[in-house]
Amino acid sequence: MTLRHFLRDDDLSPAEQLEILELADDFKNGRGSSTPLAGPKSVAVIFEKTSTRTRLSFETGIAQLGGHPVVVDARTMQLGREETIEDTARVLARYVDAVVWRTFAQARIDAMSSASDVPVVNALTNEFHPCQVLADLQTVRERHGPLPGLTLTYLGDGANNMAHSLLVGGATAGMNVRAAAPHGFAPEQWVLDAARKRAAETGGSVEVFDSPTGAVSGADVVATDSWTSMGQENDGKDRVGPFRPFQLNAELLAATGKEETSVLHCLPAHRGWEITDEVLDGPSSAVFDEAENRMHAQKALLTWLVQRR
Ligand code: CP
Ligand code: NVA
Repeated sequence: MTLRHFLRDDDLSPAEQLEILELADDFKNGRGSSTPLAGPKSVAVIFEKTSTRTRLSFETGIAQLGGHPVVVDARTMQLGREETIEDTARVLARYVDAVVWRTFAQARIDAMSSASDVPVVNALTNEFHPCQVLADLQTVRERHGPLPGLTLTYLGDGANNMAHSLLVGGATAGMNVRAAAPHGFAPEQWVLDAARKRAAETGGSVEVFDSPTGAVSGADVVATDSWTSMGQENDGKDRVGPFRPFQLNAELLAATGKEETSVLHCLPAHRGWEITDEVLDGPSSAVFDEAENRMHAQKALLTWLVQRR
């Protein structure tokens, strides 16, 4: 078996992604009662940014797998002083069986994985949030059935971690993924290239829009996220004015032209900004199922990664 990491959505092949989504359903439905972390095996869960869902879902999920979660605020580690990421990785692998890390630049988690003898999992970077998108895909499958051919439209900051992960993860699942973003906030070209490469394999598609109405037309799923991600609070950009037309509200939801559209938001939501109360609390909203599914999807992912070592 070879050591595998999950740093971005296309670290899983389409078949591997589906295998993990099916295992996630098994965990949710009580069929996946195995305890692959019994012993217990330990998993370090390290945060350089704040978190509610990721922390709680990993900590409880690892315990349910029979493992021991070691949750650490990175500000209390030597990592924040002069110890290198690579030396930290070498040390962690002497204690734990997997490392889950929420950090800033993707290059940091790439460095961690390059020196790690145990699986490394991206719990959010500036560029990707792949664990969230596993949960999102589980949620969409529950509501709409098989993913290939479904249309998902993301509205908002097209260059943030959620937009990028939905593009790459959705294309991996064979979905038609659209991103609608204001001028200057389009997805990064290298991410679009990666998503289109996957779409060419799976029969999915990837499109970018600069206005929201056409982008949501015919969408089975509409997703949005914060206009200001963690770490962007003082980046000097106007993160309100250009985004207002992209607010996920009842009018835009109706523009899908579909009755059964599902609404996704990874949370935390900024009610009244990127999404209205009416939509977030309305019948199309799947956001709290999404939050729950973080735990099931991550249990499946950790099981899969640890069994591959
Ligand atoms: N969706 C998500 O990752 O939430 P947290 O920031 O609370 O972990
Ligand atoms: N894009 C958001 C996601 C939060 C879970 C952020 O990075 O802050």
